[in-house]
Parts: sequence; C-alpha cells; structure tokens
Amino acid sequence: MQHETATAEWWRTAVVYQVYIRSFADGNGDGLGDIAGLRARLPYLHQLGIDAIWINPWYPSPQIDAGYDVSDYRAIEPAYGTTDEAELLIAEAHDLGIKVVLDIVPNHTSWEHPWFEAALAGDAQARARYLFRPGKGVDGELPPNDWESIFGGPAWTRSTAPDGTPGDWYLHLFAPAQPDLDWSNPEVVAEFEDVLRFWFDKGVDGFRIDVAHGLAKHPELPDAGPRTGRKDRNDHPGWDQDGVHEIYRGWRRVADEYADRVFVAEAWVESNERLARYLRPDELHTAFQFDFLQAPFVASVMKQTIDDARAAADAVGAPATWVLSNHDVVRHATRYARSQPEHAVSSIWEQSRWHEGAPDLALGLRRARAAALLTLGLPGTAYVYQGEELGLPEVEDLPAEVRQDPAIAQSGGAQIGRDGCRVPLPWSGETAPFGFSPEGAPEPWLPLPDSWAPYTAEAQEADPDSTLSLYRRALELRSKWLVGEGFEWVPSPEGTLAFARGDVQVWLNTSGAPVAVPGELLLGSDPAAEAGTLPSDAAAWVRV
Ligand code: GLC
Repeated sequence: MQHETATAEWWRTAVVYQVYIRSFADGNGDGLGDIAGLRARLPYLHQLGIDAIWINPWYPSPQIDAGYDVSDYRAIEPAYGTTDEAELLIAEAHDLGIKVVLDIVPNHTSWEHPWFEAALAGDAQARARYLFRPGKGVDGELPPNDWESIFGGPAWTRSTAPDGTPGDWYLHLFAPAQPDLDWSNPEVVAEFEDVLRFWFDKGVDGFRIDVAHGLAKHPELPDAGPRTGRKDRNDHPGWDQDGVHEIYRGWRRVADEYADRVFVAEAWVESNERLARYLRPDELHTAFQFDFLQAPFVASVMKQTIDDARAAADAVGAPATWVLSNHDVVRHATRYARSQPEHAVSSIWEQSRWHEGAPDLALGLRRARAAALLTLGLPGTAYVYQGEELGLPEVEDLPAEVRQDPAIAQSGGAQIGRDGCRVPLPWSGETAPFGFSPEGAPEPWLPLPDSWAPYTAEAQEADPDSTLSLYRRALELRSKWLVGEGFEWVPSPEGTLAFARGDVQVWLNTSGAPVAVPGELLLGSDPAAEAGTLPSDAAAWVRV
C-alpha cells in the first residue's frame, strides 16, 4: 500500500535520516552493514517518524574512502547487496511513506573506475576526463601547483606513463585514490546526467551531492596559498568557482523531468551568501547549513546562526537545512560534552576536538537532547544522523590499528580521522556487538564499546525518558504542531533563545541557571523538569 505523503515540495519540511550504510545494520553476517540490514530495520525508521532516508554511497568501490571512491555509479557494492535488493528497498521504503535519497560523488571517481584505468593506460580521450598536468621542476618532479589535499599533503600524485617512466601528475582534492574529474569536459557532464536518470528511473527521490562546491576549477589551475579553515573560500581556484552553477542548472533540468525529486548540496563554502547561490530557483533545492553544526552550545551564537541561515535561504526562496552531525564530524553529544567556546568552530574536521580533557558525557547528552528539540523545532528541513536518536557519543578511544580513515595516514597523523562517529549502531542485547550483526558473524568493521548496552534501541524502546522516545515524540509533535513557515523570535532572558511558530514556542536555555517559561509543556528535553521552569542545558516546546 502506498502511504499518503504530502508530495507538494515535501523536501521543504522533511526530516531526513542519514543511513551510514556500512554501520547501520548487518543483515548478511559479514560484520559490515548492508541493504538486507537496512530493509529489516525499515519498520524502526517508520516508527521513528522520519520522512526520508539518505543513504551514503552504496556503489562498487575499493572502499579506500568508505565508498566515496566510486568505481561504478550504476551498480551496488557487492558487500552491500545487489541491484535487485536496492530496488526492493526503494519499493518497501515507499510503501512506508519514506523517500529515498542517494549520495552522488561527482567531484572524483575511484582510481579503479574504468575511465581512470583507461587514462593511466594512455587513452587520450579518458585522460581528458581528469586533470592530468605536467609537473614543475627540471624533470617535472614537482607538483603542477601548490594545492593541498583536504586529507593532508599535496593534492597531486605523479602517474607512471605506460612505458614505466614517470609521467604527468593528476589532481585529487582528497585521497590519491580519488582522482578529480574535469567538469569542463562535456563527456563528464553527460555521464553524470545519465547517472541521475538511471537512479531516478528506479524511483529514487533525490541526491545528496558530495563536495558540491568542488566540481568547477579555475581553468589555469593557479597556485592557491595555504588552506586555513574547514570552509573552502572561493578565492581558492579549486573551490566554489562560479562555473559550478551551470552544472547544477543542468541537473535541475534533469530532476524536473521527474516529479518531486530533490537535491541537497554538501558545500562547505565561506558564507551563507555563497551558499545561497547554489539554491537559486533553477539550481539545487537545499544545502546543508554547516554553520549550525559548527556552532557551540551557546544560545546567542545559535540564534545568530539561525538568523543568518534563514535570511540567506529566504532570499532565494529555499528552506534552511539543519544538521547537527554526520559521518565527517565529531558527534554532537561529545562536542557538547566539553566547555564551549563563544564562537563557531571553523576547523572541526581537522581539529576534531574543541577542547582537550575528559568529556562530561552526561552533560553532552543533556545538551544534545536540547539541541535536538531546537533543530526539530525550526522551520525547514532537518537531518538526523543515525545514532543521534540513541544519544550516541563519539568513540574517542578507538585503537589506532582499527581506524580506517585515509585522512589519518595522508595527514601524517595530524588528523585523528572520522572513524569515531562511524562506529556501528547498537541495536539490542547486553554485549558487543549489540545485535549489529546476526549471531556468529565476525567482528564488525569497527568495534562497538562494551559500555554501549544502555544505548541500544532495545534498551531505549521501553523507556519513556530515553533519547529514542524523545525523538519519536518530537517527530510526532512536529508533524502536528510545527507546520508552516511561520517563525518569530520571542523576547527571552540572557543565555536563552525562544521563538514562536503559531501557538507553539520553542525555548532553549544555555545560561547555566533555570528560567521561567510560559504556557503548557508539550515536550521537554529534561524529563525531570517541573512545569513552568526550564533548567539550563535543556529545551522545551510549549503551547501558549
Ligand atoms: C565528503 C564526504 C566525505 C568524503 C569526501 C570525499 O566530504 O562527506 O566523507 O571523504 O567528501 O568524497
């Protein structure tokens, strides 16, 4: 049975759940999450009350960057399942009223993609789809320019010519296993529009666009100077170049051949003004609001971030897109578990930690629950990263030998890597791996901490005060009370923020002391709070 879903621009208000597939649920018993595991858990997602899922790359890949190195854009990674299973998943999700958003990786392919293999073998047509350039220096022994890879070190690797001699260099903004495509080549443009159609024809509802601001490069590839923060400034000739927008106008035309399809951009650009350019009416529908994710748990900073994001999105008629965590950043329950700076942290990925010292995980969880009510109370789209509904913290003590992020080695150890937010989900039982894999399976690809028994979905199901129950209740109330785009700040004491959406007000207190709140409590992040009072590090939805 096809559920009734509000199809008219569903993406303006949707709550989208990010499925990091290798860590969601292992159905076939090999220690790695897969489509079978996801299909089996669709009822859980349905019960949670989300509108859509975004699945991280599930295509064939040597998995050097956890699937962001794609070797075939039109197939399924065998470790995850088959195309038949993917089609079943899409149908079953749709039956439950859940839309399916895939992840497309257009900035680079895998070095095992047939195009790149042909390029290395000397095929001139294939080479012209990538960015090969002669090196500098006497014998071309130096990279063609000074660009740095996001994962550390130069963004260039020297290739070996088919005759075995050192050849030209190729550009990779990420790992050497991820050669950048040349988007000024019409063959690249045509290929990706065809890939979009391939999945749209299978019923997929949209795409998250990986590194959406990287595709167009300055044609001369000039030197750039050193990289500063996590955000990529458009004065760097490799990022956020104006030529990128023509690509997305083409993609939008493809999406508009179908009904109700949506794009969400991952674009770490410098400002909301730059971000809004991606959201013009003939380009992309939505883009992650990363300022919000980089904001500390400080009401004044969060308020400023919300205002700025909303103003920029409004100016182009797009909804703001809120996100607190994803597979690239430290989980917010841990980010909030240490003392908070008074400003946005712009180098979250590189630095990985806001402060040294032991985290206060109880405090972090309290704040994470409050931040969830803030986020889900805002107008616009919200993303939930798998496990945040369980209140999962970052796993900070993963031993070096199990860590797999290519950024660790490539940065010479300067980056701690992103494995700590990618640990498999705990589903049930008292001992690791907590139902992630069927009985008898080998160890999961990353170990689950033994201390995670209280975090399992099973343990939280029955507890009305659990984080899982909070998310379920919030999503249920959101669809009833927090509809429409209405939004108005409400005067509130220092260290707090409050806004009204119709009859409902959303309050957040980061002041360190309790404050009085008006109205009747609909939902509070602190189960122990008494009526009329909002403790610090808590949020509440009240009906006034
Ligand atoms: C995006 C992905 C990240 C990946 C990178 C390269 O930032 O979210 O996980 O490593 O792109 O594809």
